[in-house]
Amino acid sequence: MKTTKHASRVIAHYDDVADQYDQRYDHRDRGRLYYDHICEQIKTEIPDKEDLLDIGCGTGLFAGRYFQSGGRVTGIDISSGMIRRAVANHPYAFFVIGNAEHLPFSDESFGAVASLLAFSYLQNPEKMLADVYRVLRPGGSVALCTLGKNLLTSGVPAVYRVGEQLKLKRVGVGRFNEHYYTEDELKELFSKTGFLSIKTKKCSFAHLNLVNPIFSFARMVEPFIEQRIPQLAYNVVASGKKP
Ligand SMILES: C[S@@+](CC[C@H](N)C(=O)[O-])C[C@H]1O[C@@H](n2cnc3c(N)ncnc32)[C@H](O)[C@@H]1O
Repeated sequence: MKTTKHASRVIAHYDDVADQYDQRYDHRDRGRLYYDHICEQIKTEIPDKEDLLDIGCGTGLFAGRYFQSGGRVTGIDISSGMIRRAVANHPYAFFVIGNAEHLPFSDESFGAVASLLAFSYLQNPEKMLADVYRVLRPGGSVALCTLGKNLLTSGVPAVYRVGEQLKLKRVGVGRFNEHYYTEDELKELFSKTGFLSIKTKKCSFAHLNLVNPIFSFARMVEPFIEQRIPQLAYNVVASGKKP
């Protein structure tokens, strides 16, 4: 498979930060609370105890949680560094290095597919969704969480650019040409692929980069924001079913 210039940047970045990735999302309180919230949003949209494919699985943070609730997990990620950590962290799961846009799995091999915080990096989201549809069994579900497009997130690429100029070695800092999605864009992508029972919702207000006590306050009001002022929530969850 040919690796594009864009994909090479993503690989180089995640290979570089693989050993510190879990400290951001799993070890510090705010990181774990932020990440657990996203996991809960995804878990409500897919069945548990299934054969799950986790796309852009990183170090296997979601894979571990899904396994604990009784499922079997296969993870795929384009970064060998992230996969190396995933294998070390979760020896009971199966991980492969590969591109989300060319899934190396047989037709109808999974009952559920999840993808957390990886979809925005894809240059060809239609290709990934078509392949997700192919590898899902009839009746299977897909749920993904990605950065949504709104006023708060529109400045993110500029922050990344500055971070890169300053040579900050931090998770997610770099120029990756990410795409941030509206709920309507995701609905259309899912619908064009053939998924049914499509749902989208905005999630996340308490970002791990907020300092306390602002983070605690943001967490307290998060359910209200998500329901009543979703324009202020910056992630978006989309889900659907293969008929
Ligand atoms: C922010 S991390 C999220 C990792 C993991 N899903 C999690 O929730 O912790 C983004 C991940 O997407 C992966 N990724 C980006 N583009 C990809 C692609 N085209 N195919 C597979 N993985 C990709 C990166 O290597 C990285 O591990």
